[in-house]
Amino acid sequence: MLDRFNRQITYLRISVTDRCNFRCSYCMPEEGVELKRHEDILSFQEIVDVVKTGTKLGLKKIRLTGGEPLVRKNLPRLVKMIAEVKGIEDISLTTNGVFLTELATQLKEAGLKRVNISLDTLNPTKFKEITGTGKLEDVLKGIDAANRAGLTPVKINFVRIPGENEEDEKQIKKYCKEKNLELRFIRQMNLKTGEFAPVEGGTGGICEICNRLRLTADGFMVPCLHSGLRFNVRKLGIEEAFRQAVNLKPEKGIGTGTHEFSNIGG
Ligand code: 5AD
Ligand code: SF4
Repeated sequence: MLDRFNRQITYLRISVTDRCNFRCSYCMPEEGVELKRHEDILSFQEIVDVVKTGTKLGLKKIRLTGGEPLVRKNLPRLVKMIAEVKGIEDISLTTNGVFLTELATQLKEAGLKRVNISLDTLNPTKFKEITGTGKLEDVLKGIDAANRAGLTPVKINFVRIPGENEEDEKQIKKYCKEKNLELRFIRQMNLKTGEFAPVEGGTGGICEICNRLRLTADGFMVPCLHSGLRFNVRKLGIEEAFRQAVNLKPEKGIGTGTHEFSNIGG
């Protein structure tokens, strides 16, 4: 799949649920989000059908996101189903890490290659403040489990939250070095305006080489996080949803559209 700006689209980020056991301040608006109805959420089979059609069009890489992907029941089964699709070369997962203690080995055996784990501070009190319901210790255990299971290189997503976790960077750098983790700094995006916090050295999306589409938990193909465009795979059919999303993928993300990380998964 080549878009209008000559970008080869090979990568699909699939949100498997809009639910999450955390309430990160930068991810959910204060008023909360309305959860999708169960019957609107794509089944495993529907997701795999999207992946299969995608591979015929050139898809090679899948990332599972949420919400928190591991709150979806039997996720290792979905990983296995996707891993068995011919043409898929890489499956990864973005998670808050909590359920990795329990699931890392199963996920690895199912065919998951790598994980990205969100970690914005090593201070337990601050961690609770940022995530609402999270316990730092659970995440650190999950990180160790991922390393042990060989979901490597384990990557850490550190969202720079202005006025909140600037002082934590040094400590995180040291921790990542010791534990052999790859650290990525992420600029916080304003949920209302879609603008990224201007942080020195941070990277946002690089539009020129963006090779991705997103699939929401309720079956919409989204060409760009910053565009309001979305194409329903159930209504249009999978191939047509892919084609329209690719054809209308904007050259650059501009600060419009909705920024529902809790549904789209970062
Ligand atoms: N700005 C930037 N990244 C975000 N994420 C979630 N919300 C935001 C936001 N407002 C990303 C982070 C997190 C992942 C789950 O989604 O990278 O680790
Ligand atoms: Fe959950 Fe991730 Fe959003 Fe935090 S950033 S509330 S862990 S989906």
